[in-house]
Amino acid sequence: MKNRIVSGMRPTGKLHIGHYLGVIQNWVELQKKYESFFFVADWHALTTKYDKTETLKQDTIDVVIDWLASGLDPELSAIYVQSLVPEIAELNIYLGMVTPQNWVERDPTLKDMAKVLRGKTEIPDNAVCSPQAAANCHFRDDILVSYGLMGYPVLMSADIMMFNASAVPVGSDQVAHIEITRDIARRFNNIYKTDFFVEPLPLLNDCALICGLDGCKMGKSFENDIKISDTQEVTAKKIMSAITDKSRIRRDDPGHPEQCQVAFKYWEIFGAPEQIETIKSECKQGLRGCADCKRQLGAVINEKFAPIREKRRYYEQHPDEVREILAAGTARARAEAQKVLSEVKNIIGMY
Ligand code: TRP
Ligand code: SF4
Repeated sequence: MKNRIVSGMRPTGKLHIGHYLGVIQNWVELQKKYESFFFVADWHALTTKYDKTETLKQDTIDVVIDWLASGLDPELSAIYVQSLVPEIAELNIYLGMVTPQNWVERDPTLKDMAKVLRGKTEIPDNAVCSPQAAANCHFRDDILVSYGLMGYPVLMSADIMMFNASAVPVGSDQVAHIEITRDIARRFNNIYKTDFFVEPLPLLNDCALICGLDGCKMGKSFENDIKISDTQEVTAKKIMSAITDKSRIRRDDPGHPEQCQVAFKYWEIFGAPEQIETIKSECKQGLRGCADCKRQLGAVINEKFAPIREKRRYYEQHPDEVREILAAGTARARAEAQKVLSEVKNIIGMY
C-alpha cells in the first residue's frame, strides 16, 4: 500500500507562477508515488476573509483549473473542496477538545500570519527577493483575530488527520502547523490509549521562492505576479516591467547580474545552464541591453507555460468536466473520511 499525503491551498483565485514552481510542480511529482489528497481550503479562507466571500466560489474553481492544467491527475489524486467534506468539521470538534489553548496561542505560523496581515512581515529565508525591495512591501492592516482564526492549526490538523496521512507536502512557512498536528495526534493517542493516529511529517520542497516583478514576495495582492493563466502578451509585458540592475543607464554600460534583482533571478530559474552563463557574461561586458534581455526572458517563460495554458483553456471551456472531477474527488475523500471518523468516534466513546 502507498503512503498517504494530504495538502491544501487557500482559494486565492487564479494562481501565479510562484505557486506553480513552489507547490504544484511538487504535487504533480508526488502524486505518482503517494496516495494523494489535494483540496481547496475554503474554510481556511474564511478565517481571514469571512467578509469577502463574493468571489469565493469562482476563486475555488480557478484554483482547481490551475491544478488540473499544471498536471494534477484526477485518476491519481483525490481533488476536492474542504467544505464539501463535512467530516473534517466534525473531526475538528473532537481535536479541538483535546488541544490545549496555549498550543494554538503559541502557534508561530499564526503569529506570522497576524503579523503579515497587520503589515509587518519579513521575507522568508528561502525567497530569492532582495531585502531592499522587501522593505517596501505593503500589507493589509484590518485584521480581526477571530475564534475561527485561532482554530486555524486545529482545523489544519483535522484536514490532515482526517485521512491519517503520514506526510504533508508544504512550504517551510507551514512546518510549525505540522508540528502542532503531530502534537495533537500524539495527545489524542495518549488520552484515548490508542495508536490510531499517525504523526505526520512535513515533506519539504527545497526550491527557492520566486520573487515578484518588483522584488517583493510574489503575491496576488501586491500586483507583482505573473499568473499561470496570463496570456503570452500580458506575460511579455509584465516581464518588461521587472526590475533590473538599476545602475545601468545605457545599453552598453557593464551590468551586474547579481544586482539584477528580478530579471536575472528569473533567468536562473527558467534559463538553461549555458544560456545563463552567456547572459551573465554578455551583461557584464555591456553586450546585452535590458530590454532585449527581458524580451527574450518573456519568450522563454511563455514557452514553458504554453502547454499548461492550453490545457487551462480546455478546462475553462469544459466546466462540467471540472465539476465532475470535483464530485468524484469529493466522493472518494468522503468515503475515506467516513471510515476514519467512525473509528475516531468509536475510540472516544461516542454514539
Ligand atoms: N495553511 C495552508 C496554507 O496557507 C493551507 C492548508 C490548509 C493546508 N489545510 C492544510 C496545507 C492541510 C496542508 C495540509 O498554505
Ligand atoms: Fe539583468 Fe539582463 Fe539587464 Fe543584465 S542585461 S541587468 S541580466 S536584465
